[in-house]
Amino acid sequence: MLAAGKGKRLRSSIPKVLHPVCGRPLLWHVLQTARAARPTKIVIVVGHGADDVREAVASWGITPKPVFVEQAEQLGTGHAVLAAAKAVGRVHDVLVANGDFDPARPEDIRALLRTHRRTDSAATVLTAEMNDPGGYGRVIREGRRLVAIRELADATPQERAIREGATNWAVCRRADLYRALPLVGRDNRQREYYLNDIYPILLGKGSRVSAVMGDTGGMIGANSRRGLASLERLLRTRINAAHMDAGVTLLDPTTTYIDAGVKIGSDTVVLPLTFLEGDTVIGRGCRIGPSTRLVDTRVADAAQVTFSVAEGALIGRGADVGPFARLRPGTVLAARVHVGSYVEIKASSIGRDTKVPHLSYVGDATVGRRANIGAATVTVNYDGYDKHRTVIGDDARIGSDTMLVAPVNVGKGGVTGAGSVITKDVPAGALAVERGEQRTVKGYRRRRDSEHRGS
Ligand code: UD1
Ligand code: CA
Repeated sequence: MLAAGKGKRLRSSIPKVLHPVCGRPLLWHVLQTARAARPTKIVIVVGHGADDVREAVASWGITPKPVFVEQAEQLGTGHAVLAAAKAVGRVHDVLVANGDFDPARPEDIRALLRTHRRTDSAATVLTAEMNDPGGYGRVIREGRRLVAIRELADATPQERAIREGATNWAVCRRADLYRALPLVGRDNRQREYYLNDIYPILLGKGSRVSAVMGDTGGMIGANSRRGLASLERLLRTRINAAHMDAGVTLLDPTTTYIDAGVKIGSDTVVLPLTFLEGDTVIGRGCRIGPSTRLVDTRVADAAQVTFSVAEGALIGRGADVGPFARLRPGTVLAARVHVGSYVEIKASSIGRDTKVPHLSYVGDATVGRRANIGAATVTVNYDGYDKHRTVIGDDARIGSDTMLVAPVNVGKGGVTGAGSVITKDVPAGALAVERGEQRTVKGYRRRRDSEHRGS
């Protein structure tokens, strides 16, 4: 995998191969796609941002564990593959790929390998037909035979008109690859060692070179921000199609944004303007959206989430969240919990069948089962220095507008009066009310109105 380039055209301080598409870095997509080849060894050529790339790859837990090769000076893709010679070792075939992701599908990679082996070729390249192959290498053929791949900078006007572009997915017999690479020169417009220049060399030695046309969705690679946006759209289309094929209903796939790696059970319905991100996992028969964002969140079967945002949360079976709820990291909702409008929950577990229906903040709390948290209840968890916990027992009824000043416990079945500021534990089954006696002034309004008229 060639991942040493800077990606000048992106104008970014982040290495190109770490730019995300559908929630995952380009290089992650390359590694996933390369699995189709069942590699026995993975070698990644790094240069620009090498430490960042190494660290990112390590966090993905790829097997076999990738080996890194440093290409100190980026003299071209041929130079990069040559730099990897020793790390590649004595394998039979080498699959080369761009780290900036030529969006082949796993089946394209399998077809590439099949053709390579069936035709006993020295090298086989994956190509794609496009309306506008932009800056990509053009596939030059004589009859059906591939004879060369020409970089745009070196192409004649006739060659530029060719609509077959070359990806950098290529499988080569290792022995032939490393015999040809040292013969590649840099006598071209960019003064670079092009990997693609091995093909005429191999053909000149009488070896066979093949090309397989794949489906790259009308594009290759992502060299600019515009390219990233196109790639995002292409991968989104593929991801959404795969979910629909697996039994998920997407009411409007064009406005449904699902990251690579998100899992969704069958018979779940995802409504428009919904973003499912990171390691989100959704069960069967759920209803998600519209206008919902779930990040690293697990949703059990038959739950509903609407017009809400959740991050790092667990939503139990049959739970019902929203509209307009916010679940922050560490929120655990058990089965059939109801969280209603304008409720924020953080680092708290809510027992099954409990309701938090309106306008509340629940933070650093443990709430039992079947409890009711009245409108506008707040767990006052922060004293300006530390966070403290609130514990609410099963079947408790917290009156509207209760301030629970933590640390504080409300026992099983405990009740608080509306508007109370609770600073002491409430024993099981007890009522705690904290508010001034009500003063009632009879005839007040009539008196005030007449005073006002008189002035
Ligand atoms: C390359 C191909 C082009 C093909 C296109 C497909 C060459 C010369 N051109 O063009 O024919 O159509 O990919 O996407 O191969 N890299 C290194 N070390 C280097 C140079 C590049 O590791 O010295 C890496 C880059 O990080 C990148 C990949 O190789 O991941 C391709 O390099 P890039 O400069 O993006 O090549 P393209 O112009 O896209
Ligand atoms: Ca590229």
